[in-house]
Amino acid sequence: KTHELLQIMEAQPVIPVLKIERAADAIPLARALARGGLPAIEITLRTPAALEAIRLAASEVPEAIVGAGTILNPAQFEAAAAAGSRFIVSPGCTASLIDAAADSPVPLLPGAITPSEIMTAYERGYSVLKFFPAEQAGGAAFLKSLSSPLSDIRFCPTGGIGVANAATYLSLPNVICVGGSWVAPDDFIAAGKWDEIEALARAATSLSR
Ligand code: 3PG
Repeated sequence: KTHELLQIMEAQPVIPVLKIERAADAIPLARALARGGLPAIEITLRTPAALEAIRLAASEVPEAIVGAGTILNPAQFEAAAAAGSRFIVSPGCTASLIDAAADSPVPLLPGAITPSEIMTAYERGYSVLKFFPAEQAGGAAFLKSLSSPLSDIRFCPTGGIGVANAATYLSLPNVICVGGSWVAPDDFIAAGKWDEIEALARAATSLSR
């Protein structure tokens, strides 16, 4: 499952983190991001429409790789998996979430920040982790400092990342890709600015690692 997750994350420098208020928006949004070069997307469970948005994008947009984000507990994990999520992202790493993921074919990207959290996740078989909230927790400098002592672990940092700092994160040896909402801002989604979102995605794909 780590291999599957790595394949998704290595294929694009940025994973869009999405908050969708109207489920039907998921279809044109996923299409626009895929056209712009970012087929893998993370739809966060931060709105009542999120599960239906995942279901719609997963079934109607074959070119998209639809993941779920902001998964906090086993019930949400199972609901997101049942909706068709190809990967599942959590801001943290609880024992109950790890147990739920162990019983599922869908790969989990759990979050960890401190060395102890990271070591605990690693002990449970996770060498690919989310680092959230990246900027607030210490940013690229913090993450870089983890690369030598915790050299087996690689990260997808998210939180406060945008055009100005994405390249700095992507240059770190322990960063696979970054995540962020800047490629599909909430107000662009609300206004249906699909062409603008496609353009932001295309610009993000040119970020190199
Ligand atoms: C996440 O869940 O990954 C973050 O909320 C994304 O953070 P951003 O909105 O600052 O990009």
